[in-house]
Amino acid sequence: MSRIPDQKGMVVWLYGLSGAGKTTISLLLKQQLENDGFFAVCLDGDVLRSGINKDLGFAEDDREENIRRAAEIARLMLQNNIITICSFITPLQKHRTLASAIIGQSFTEVFIECPLEVCQARDVKGLYKKASANQIIHFTGISSSFEVPTNPELIIHTAAESPAESMEKVYNYITPLFKGTINTKTDR
Ligand code: ADX
Repeated sequence: MSRIPDQKGMVVWLYGLSGAGKTTISLLLKQQLENDGFFAVCLDGDVLRSGINKDLGFAEDDREENIRRAAEIARLMLQNNIITICSFITPLQKHRTLASAIIGQSFTEVFIECPLEVCQARDVKGLYKKASANQIIHFTGISSSFEVPTNPELIIHTAAESPAESMEKVYNYITPLFKGTINTKTDR
């Protein structure tokens, strides 16, 4: 029988350049949390942009609306005690402030740091190549800005470690924030 966790929700907000490793870390983290008996969901920029946010582009106002909607969805998850792992570039400080304001004190932000050159070399989706050839407008890091946070709550350097190591650092940081509050229904 599957266990229904009686857990306290939180929102883990991973932000950083395209190709920095946000999605990879979020999926590993979700898996780890599930292995522990927690219930977690991922909200991912590419996924939301293929559905609920498909009317939005990458100009500044659209990015803000993208983040606003994502944060509102995360808040609904949080209200249902779900651990919600968000991965969005969230390029400007004002976007992070907006998400934090919508979500409130259960918001934990994690800067997934990776040098632009490394993201470009990885170019998993081939988008940096296209952006450098001016085939994509407003591309973050190329033709649209990314504000490096001055005082990040947690910073993960994905160019220097494996995805599993990065995930573990996020995991170790977030679990004290909700562990100890858990009782599983089957444990009662
Ligand atoms: S955000 O800036 O509004 O937070 P979001 O995380 O939702 O961005 O989407 C980023 C993803 O959209 C990238 O990983 C990439 O796959 C895709 N993408 C397509 N066009 C762009 C662009 N101009 N800038 C950044 N990412 C883009």
